[in-house]
Amino acid sequence: MELLKMEHISKSFFGVKVLDDVSLTIQQGEIHALLGENGAGKSTLMNILSGVYTRDAGSVTFEGKELSNGSISASEQAGIAFVHQELNIFNDLEVYENLFLGKEITGFGGRLDKKAMIREAEELFRQMDVPLKPRLLAGDLVTGAKQVLEIAKALHSKAKLIILDEPTTALNNNEVEHFFRLIRDLRDKGTAFIFISHKMPEIFALADHYTVLRNSRFISSGVIAETTPEQITRDMVGETYANEDLYVQRELGDVVLKVDQLTGEKFSNVSFSCRKGEILGVTGLQGAGCSEVLQAIFGAIPVLSGNIEIHGQLAGDETIHKAMKKGVGMIPANRKENSVLPDMTLLENTYLSRHTIDTRNPSISKRAEQKRYDSYKQTLNIKANRSDDLIVSLSGGNQQKIILARWLDTDAQILLMDNPTQGIDVGAKEEIYRLILKLAESGKTIIVNTLEIPELKKIADRCIVFYHGGIAADLAHDEIEENAVMMYSTGAR
Ligand SMILES: Nc1ncnc2c1ncn2[C@@H]1O[C@H](COP(=O)(O)OP(=O)(O)OP(=O)(O)O)[C@@H](O)[C@H]1O
Ligand SMILES: [Mg+2]
Repeated sequence: MELLKMEHISKSFFGVKVLDDVSLTIQQGEIHALLGENGAGKSTLMNILSGVYTRDAGSVTFEGKELSNGSISASEQAGIAFVHQELNIFNDLEVYENLFLGKEITGFGGRLDKKAMIREAEELFRQMDVPLKPRLLAGDLVTGAKQVLEIAKALHSKAKLIILDEPTTALNNNEVEHFFRLIRDLRDKGTAFIFISHKMPEIFALADHYTVLRNSRFISSGVIAETTPEQITRDMVGETYANEDLYVQRELGDVVLKVDQLTGEKFSNVSFSCRKGEILGVTGLQGAGCSEVLQAIFGAIPVLSGNIEIHGQLAGDETIHKAMKKGVGMIPANRKENSVLPDMTLLENTYLSRHTIDTRNPSISKRAEQKRYDSYKQTLNIKANRSDDLIVSLSGGNQQKIILARWLDTDAQILLMDNPTQGIDVGAKEEIYRLILKLAESGKTIIVNTLEIPELKKIADRCIVFYHGGIAADLAHDEIEENAVMMYSTGAR
């Protein structure tokens, strides 16, 4: 049965058309993948559906009834829930408070019935089979757990249609498995899902139907079982897309980074070194310590014992500023919380780090910056209008490209990248791999933390696998392989 019909939807922002006569039909109890390159218009279409934006033209019918235009409460009441691309958790509230925000249970005299809410939260988490605790402060959750909380919020609202905008970017492989089981289970009970993702394997593992958008327009729609990743990629990119093997073995230089018996809150006795021009992959399940080790090298979290040597210099009590002065750069995971400066323009967000590292020339020349920005815009294929627009006006993937440009633009000789291609479409990912390889070729050292093994196979000279806060394996390029990595990262080997 038809649940949702969006027809001839158009939308412009400041005279720029970002949706042009787009249609989308969703059946009851299906998982429908909504696909397209960065900036294609996916999130905008979903923002129209959930009432965040008003449509300029077109109609939306849900369960046979016309949905009012631009009303969040009307969409919510109709049974549409939206799990946004960027997390919307209040860090200073407890988990159950986030869950019940705006829908609090009140008891006698209108007082909040805390006990009832906590009980209900516990019951929901039990049904979902997730280890969330109602009384924890949301700010203390790891990103993966926050994502699970977002989904719990949608489930809690008893939605008939749940929009998931790239829900797995922060989940590890086990969590993804688990999460998919939950979604399938709910689908079988009649809930419909719109699933936005840039990860082909997930799309083919989960979705029943798909719709592809390109350049603000509808391109194709159909049954997942009757198409292929290649076909869908062609529809998304609009031309033949070559999935080449980009990796070439290179001559490496001297050791530029040495970590010796490094111990922090989430990792212990970690030792490894890295050469000039090397691309070192780091991987492991969420909580295995990968991300924390990078953060410690960058001075973002404290080290309890052990040494970090950068260019032969001991770097004991690092602060971010000191690390940057030594030529270390970092692209952190979770761009909304850690990277994006929402009040700043695209241009400012881009040149920010270079001006902190490069103090020889403290003055900012707008013209020079604009030129550099333009060249990054071209190589990274950033979809944006004017460089003085606010960064938050860009699509998620395009914001991520600005953050990449911010660090590619510095003199940093050692670049730490934590999940650098989060939310980036297939075509642009290839461009970024090319760029990382080129940077390494030019002598920069790059450490990439990622859960995507194919990504490591494309670029890494070596890969260290973390398990429970320590190094379980150090694999050479040729040994990087899905099964082997899985075995080490789960402690099976
Ligand atoms: N509030 C806004 N103001 C101005 N432009 C906007 C706004 N929101 C979105 N856009 C523009 O609309 C276009 C489509 O963006 P949208 O976020 O829908 O893309 P997307 O398909 O979700 O991409 P991604 O995969 O990167 O998330 C982009 O060019 C974006 O810059
Ligand atoms: Mg988006």
